[in-house]
Amino acid sequence: MIDVHCHMLPGIDDGSKNVDMSLEMIRMSADQGVAGICFTPHFYADMNSPEEFVARRDNALKLLESRLGELPVVPDYTVGAEVHYFRGISRSSSIERLCIGKSNYILVEMPFRTWQPYIIEEIEELSEVSGMNIIIAHIERYLYQDKKLVRRIIDNSNLLKQCNAEFFIERTAGKAFKMLKRGEIDLLGSDSHNLSSRHPNLIEASDIIEKKFRNDVLSRIWNNGRMILDSAKGW
Ligand SMILES: [Fe+2]
Repeated sequence: MIDVHCHMLPGIDDGSKNVDMSLEMIRMSADQGVAGICFTPHFYADMNSPEEFVARRDNALKLLESRLGELPVVPDYTVGAEVHYFRGISRSSSIERLCIGKSNYILVEMPFRTWQPYIIEEIEELSEVSGMNIIIAHIERYLYQDKKLVRRIIDNSNLLKQCNAEFFIERTAGKAFKMLKRGEIDLLGSDSHNLSSRHPNLIEASDIIEKKFRNDVLSRIWNNGRMILDSAKGW
């Protein structure tokens, strides 16, 4: 299993509060069989420049790395960001700095306010012009938006769609199965923030999917995650 979306870096966003919590979250993931993790703290353009964000993220990573040796097993890992959409994102010159590791994959969080066509157009432009591969974070959280606009995102094969594990665990599972069956889900993430209400939970979703689908459905998802992790390392 590869977790492509989580908030396990210490003290950088509303995720892990300190190194102890980060270590416990990573230990929990490894125990579940997670072999690779992308640390993706929130990026908000109105709070930090990409350069400032990267410096803060590097510090958080250094803190964590100074104690990773305490864990019996350390999954493969890399750093990225969960980049909250902002107007002008497609023209931002330093947005590439927020890609996952050395890859050209970037995790984008769409706005929760009502989508307007210009928002989707900007995402399409970013995808077509910048050469970056866009991953839409937790697509299931936007299914209440304008149906045509949601369809435009889902049907755009250049955009990868990530779902949170909870989509399969909670009462929404029926919807999740339908989307997975139609090939509308490319990646899974825990989007874990802590050890309680939003803990690492990939194994729960994985078990549910495994019971319902053939193995190749899950393999495709984990292979996509592995491909991102490998390209983050420049392989
Ligand atoms: Fe997130």
